[in-house]
Order: sequence, then C-alpha cells, then structure tokens
Amino acid sequence: MQDFLAQPEVLPDGSAGVLLPAFIGWSPREGSGVFDPVRTLGVRAGFYSLNADLTVDLHTLETALQGGSYRVLVVIHYYGRTETKMHEIQKLAEQYGAILVEDLAHGFYSAILGGLAGTYGAVNLFSLHKMFPTPGAEGGMVAYRDCRYLHGQQETAPELARLILNYDWAGIARVRRAHFQELTRRLSVLPECGTAFELLWPDLAQTDVPQTLPVRILGGNRDQIYQAMNADGYGMVSLYHTLIDNVQEFPEMVALSRTITNFPVHQDMDAACLDGLIASFKTALHIGSPC
Ligand SMILES: Cc1ncc(COP(=O)(O)O)c(C=O)c1O
Repeated sequence: MQDFLAQPEVLPDGSAGVLLPAFIGWSPREGSGVFDPVRTLGVRAGFYSLNADLTVDLHTLETALQGGSYRVLVVIHYYGRTETKMHEIQKLAEQYGAILVEDLAHGFYSAILGGLAGTYGAVNLFSLHKMFPTPGAEGGMVAYRDCRYLHGQQETAPELARLILNYDWAGIARVRRAHFQELTRRLSVLPECGTAFELLWPDLAQTDVPQTLPVRILGGNRDQIYQAMNADGYGMVSLYHTLIDNVQEFPEMVALSRTITNFPVHQDMDAACLDGLIASFKTALHIGSPC
C-alpha cells in the first residue's frame, strides 16, 4: 500500500485523502498492516462504515465520498469473501474520481482462481506471507490493473514468484472451501447457533476461498472463548480484535470487533480434528457465557 500511495501521481497534493473501511485492526505486536502505511506517509484518511457482516454500507460510503476529496478508495475483501457490492462501489469510485484499490490480503485465492474479487479496482494488494510460508514471514504483491499507475516499478523480491508458483493453488482452495463448508454445516446445527453465536458468512460463493471462518459471539466473552480453544490446541484467531484509534467514532464497528473470532480452515488442518474443534467450541461457549 505504501509504495502505491507514495507515487506522486496518486496523491499529487497534500489535500487529497484516502478513504478506508472503518474496520481496521491494530495490535501492540504488529501495529496495523492496513493503516500504518497511511499514517507513515501522513496522508489524510477518512472512513466509511460497514454492515454487521462486514460488507460495505453503500450509503455511508457515498456520504463520505461526497463530504471529502478522496483520491483513493480502499475496499477490503474481509476473510477472503468477495465484497458483494463491488459493481456499485466501482461506479461510486468513478463518479467521485477516486482510484479504487482492492485489498486482497485475505483473498489471494478468491481473486487468482477466477473469481470477481480483484477485477474491479485499478490496483490489487496481496499479502503473500498470509497465504504462503514465505521466508521471514513477509512479502506482498501489488498488481496494477490500470497501466496509468505503472512507472517502471521494480520487484524487490522476485524469488517470491517462484515460491508461490510452486504451490497447488486450486488444491489449496479446494481443501479450504471443504473445511469451511463442513464447519459451517456443523456450526449451523448447534443449538447455540443464533443465541450464543452467529455465522458472519453463512453462504460461501462458488469462487470464494476463505482465509478463516468468522463467527460472532453473542453475549459471551469472545476473548475467553478464543483463549480456551487455543489452550485446547485449536488455532483460533481473533483478527482485528482491537480497532485503530482513528475509527473509535464508529461505535458499532468497535462493538463488532469485540465479538468476532475466526475458525481455522487451513489446508493442512486434518478434517479428523473437526469433532474436537466443535466440542472445544461448545465447551468454551459455556465458559465464556455470562450466565
Ligand atoms: C486486510 C489487510 N490488508 C493488509 C494487511 C497488511 O498486510 P501486510 O502484512 O502484508 O503488510 C493486513 C494485515 O495486517 C490485512 O489484514
């Protein structure tokens, strides 16, 4: 993101800003992968709200575009789910003269295997280290779909191309989708579904490949559930458990960030562990429950 924003053609004067979704995480160890580049460059940032399932709220997006002069509009395909209103978002970006950037940090496979994610924006951002075991657990990729922003940029880690081409993307996608679908099936029939938790992403579109499976804990203590399940050996994550200070004026987003936890769907996960995973979740739900 930083390399793209730093180009003089992108933000030619100090007044033009970047418009981002109001659901951006921060952690003391890692900072904010999304927001740190914006902060580092000292670029003006604005935010638009999302719906409770983390899809874009078009109304607040348009209001934000009307109210500020934004040169860059960032959309995040959370957890690998293709944002459902990309067509409308692309139109709004055009209407208000903003360069559309698709953040595919979680959506490498959703974009690269023929899905619609990554086909709307001028620029696509990928976080390769989140999807592949890259050396030093780092490495990303910027794909320019609009050649106007190509100015002879150079690769800084060309060896990563070789590494990622050595993986069976379609095979990985198949296993991730199968884990997601099986977990969804098992979670949706639990008696606690709808009362103690809900599925944030109940329907997996045909071309989407999940990074994780998010659920929303209703009433119980998300952090206790996450800790109990990790203590049982199941690699839960709570992505975006804390939001950056800049979005604290969006209380519904802050509240949402305190309730989401993510099940693993990694291709190396053994399907035989799903029984134990679900049992651990059920037990943890009762530990984390207020009554
Ligand atoms: C949605 C999203 N975009 C971008 C990033 C930044 O990725 P990277 O760590 O490759 O800079 C992250 C990770 O923090 C992320 O979750």
